[in-house]
Amino acid sequence: MTYNLLKGKRGIIFGALDHMSIAWKTAERCHEEGAIFTLSNTPLAMRFGEINDLAEKTGSQIIPADATSVEELEEVFSKSMEILGGKIDFVLHSIGMSLNVRKGLLYDNLNYDYFLKDIDISALSFHKMLQVARKMDAISEGGSVLALSYVAAQRTFFRYNDMADVKAILESIARSFGYIYGRDKKIRINTISQSPTITTAGKGIKGMDSLFDFTERMSPLGNATAEECADYCVVMFSDLTKKVTMQNLYHDGGFSSMGMSYKAMKMYNKSLDQAIADGEFTFED
Ligand SMILES: NC(=O)c1ccc[n+]([C@@H]2O[C@H](COP(=O)([O-])OP(=O)(O)OC[C@H]3O[C@@H](n4cnc5c(N)ncnc54)[C@H](O)[C@@H]3O)[C@@H](O)[C@H]2O)c1
Repeated sequence: MTYNLLKGKRGIIFGALDHMSIAWKTAERCHEEGAIFTLSNTPLAMRFGEINDLAEKTGSQIIPADATSVEELEEVFSKSMEILGGKIDFVLHSIGMSLNVRKGLLYDNLNYDYFLKDIDISALSFHKMLQVARKMDAISEGGSVLALSYVAAQRTFFRYNDMADVKAILESIARSFGYIYGRDKKIRINTISQSPTITTAGKGIKGMDSLFDFTERMSPLGNATAEECADYCVVMFSDLTKKVTMQNLYHDGGFSSMGMSYKAMKMYNKSLDQAIADGEFTFED
């Protein structure tokens, strides 16, 4: 079902890699809702990903950029305004990567060069986008900016590693910049804290399948899918949420408010009995 919620709006969508990406689904939904937008990702992602298919499907142009480079972000904003014919109404930051996770380094043995790079790619890039846009006056009054986060910013999750700290910074940037950009331009800045989702970035998390199953059992509404996240992004980009800003918005089927569910308890009892029977009762990190 489409509602024309984004008719006449111009956007920039960062982070569509392949058809599983949350940014990919969001681009499809924004297109269905009448928006025009540009797509951006790293040159490497463009070589390995399928972004050209998405560009063709949505009538969008691609502007390659490493989101850690201020100069390249300036290029994305100026070219986008030129291509789309005016200021930008919405921006999606759907970027995440951890070198420490990729290299299998645990939280008590992090490489600090990687850690700084992870912060730069997955959190500071959000600040850079906002600062670049503000200096260029590239976002129209009443515009909406979103970044994607995860509940590990608030609670500790096994093996989410340095990305937990990175997401906490990301959410803080949304609040700090939300004040500055909101008071004079009425621009909304929020993060959406999404359920575990099977994507390229998601699969990088050790034990993703178990986590996905656990959160599914714990959430009264079940895990939120990438398509449902795209729907939420559309609403947040629309004029229906003009007074929502500086928030971390949970989109997780209720997981973040749960302590224990019947389904999870049942499964836990079953596997605990089995683990004790098998003499496998050990813990690691
Ligand atoms: N998948 C999940 O379980 C989940 C849950 C909550 C939040 N998120 C967040 O959603 C966002 C999107 O991730 P996804 O799950 O769709 O995975 P994805 O792998 O499809 O998207 C991650 C994107 O980040 C891009 N990227 C990496 N380094 C970059 C750089 N230097 N400059 C520009 N782009 C860069 C990648 O090319 C890729 O397109 C991330 O912020 C992720 O942390 C994901």
